Amino acid sequence: MCGIVGYIGDRLAVPNALNCLKALEYRGYDSAGVAYADGTELKICKMVGKLENLTSHLKNKIIPSSCAIGHTRWATHGEPNKQNAHPHADYYKMLAVVHNGIIENYLELKNELEKKGYKFYSATDTEVFANLLSFYLIEQNPLLKGYYAVRNTMHNTLHSTYKIDEKCIIKALHSVVLKCKGSFAVAVLMRGYDDVIFFAKNKSPLIIGKGENENFIASDTPALIGCCKKFYSIKDGEIGYITKDRIAVFDENLKVLKLNFKTVNIRPEQVILGNYSHFMEKEIEQGADSVTETINRIEQMKILERISPKIFDNFDLHITACGTALHAGLIAKCVIEDKLKIPVDLDYASEFRYKKPLISSKSICLFISQSGETADTLSCVELSNSVGATTIAFTNVAGSRMESLVDYIIPTSAGPEIAVASTKAYMAQLAAIYQFIEYLAKIKGITIEFSSDSVKNAVLKNKYINYYKELEDVVQEIKDEESVYFIGRGIDYLLSLEGALKLKEVSYIHCEAMPAGELKHGSLALVRKDCFVIAILTQKELYDKTLNNIYELNSRGAKVILFSPFKELRNIVYKQILIPETEPVLSPFVAMKPLQCLAYATAIARGNDPDKPRNLAKSVTVE
Ligand code: G6P
Repeated sequence: MCGIVGYIGDRLAVPNALNCLKALEYRGYDSAGVAYADGTELKICKMVGKLENLTSHLKNKIIPSSCAIGHTRWATHGEPNKQNAHPHADYYKMLAVVHNGIIENYLELKNELEKKGYKFYSATDTEVFANLLSFYLIEQNPLLKGYYAVRNTMHNTLHSTYKIDEKCIIKALHSVVLKCKGSFAVAVLMRGYDDVIFFAKNKSPLIIGKGENENFIASDTPALIGCCKKFYSIKDGEIGYITKDRIAVFDENLKVLKLNFKTVNIRPEQVILGNYSHFMEKEIEQGADSVTETINRIEQMKILERISPKIFDNFDLHITACGTALHAGLIAKCVIEDKLKIPVDLDYASEFRYKKPLISSKSICLFISQSGETADTLSCVELSNSVGATTIAFTNVAGSRMESLVDYIIPTSAGPEIAVASTKAYMAQLAAIYQFIEYLAKIKGITIEFSSDSVKNAVLKNKYINYYKELEDVVQEIKDEESVYFIGRGIDYLLSLEGALKLKEVSYIHCEAMPAGELKHGSLALVRKDCFVIAILTQKELYDKTLNNIYELNSRGAKVILFSPFKELRNIVYKQILIPETEPVLSPFVAMKPLQCLAYATAIARGNDPDKPRNLAKSVTVE
């Protein structure tokens, strides 16, 4: 959570930093800020709320600075106000810091610094980082305090009179990194040292982008698409600096590293809205392509063949994930147990590590994560690695921390997903999971009734259906509801969980999903006349049972909106959204899109921004 950027080069730094920051807003939008070098001074400008507040505030100002750092915040320490917004300056106003992550021991460090005379204006852990760096710099040269009390600071005096150079600053940064516990990606701008951006990283993501007469740092690659083509993923424990034509990275022992820059294949059109109103709308439409691309890439690169079949001789299987990725995992568990008869243990990542999981060196642990940066899921990977289990990650973001931790990577190819609510990545996760199941079936000599081709065909069935039109009336009716319930059985229940999550996160309507059969064990008490229940019915085997539950709802006056391919049910329910018929096991590939469309359209009808739902962030890098 939180996104950070740094720009240094021949072009105007502030507009460039703001531009990169725009692509990072999915990481948080409680406040945004920039720090830039303005001749002899270091200026900080920050605004509460979305980035557009800051951008419009700076719109008509031409800031002739060639070096800037920026931040978009998801509040962890301290409320989302201007005081707590980044960048944060140290007490002596000698430097500015932007930070993504959590310094776990910040209170202890803050106490120590307060005893040394440092005063704090914010509730953040970042300000502690800034002051600790200032402390270590002053420790190297106590005269610095006086130097920064003067307004006009010049790089050359700082260097010649005070003997402060990149080496000293790196040394001080190194001392800070050794003191701080937790996760951080930080960028630092020093007053009077305005042709260099310093950085440090531990656990939170940070990359360097190399350009022509300009260089960048950012929390992730999509932020730099269209800016540069070569990227270096900074590793945990590394620190360094960029100037407009130099990049230096040091390891934990301050040894200079030789860098291996990679080219990333993200096309600029993948990170712009194009003809769509919102990324969520665009990404729902891209769901089918992300399924096809995922399958093609896994096949072409023979990804699954890299996994040694031997690990499947004697194993137990575990799945861990969060949010939407967990819902994809639920489908995996259901299909693996049903078709392969292999028991699967599945947990929320935030629960798995604390339940003392029964894993060992013969366990195979699957992790599903769009970002590959979710803190809870990453902790579970570390835990599984520590007992010698085989770890396999289904991830969408290349070069993520999760990829560096696991034994095998099964990439999903949804492309950059920018809306906070996950849509196309869920579809891609399902595609990769079904491929994995097909591979496992082959190893075990089991015949199953789906193949990658049938998956691709299933998802294409939605291609020409305009669900927004079909859903128009429903959206108008539910948009003012306080609660909406979702029911289903088997796979349909698992789809209703994801449908309810989607609707609640972007519409802010309370949504609750439950197995249809569980209704009468409590939740039916909530059903009143005219209350809306979304029922999902795609599984022939469960037709009669779910139908009985629909009758029960009808007789209590509920308005049932049915998502189903079975036309004959039209007159039984309040409204039916007809979805294409497919093999029951493939129903997630056709039934999810209309549920995603329902969520998107309802958010719009309520005047919400579906791409940036309140209080949420896409990449949850704190536990
Ligand atoms: C956040 C996002 C969700 C996502 C979940 C897990 O809550 O808002 O859309 O499903 O994190 O993220 P991951 O990147 O691990 O899939």
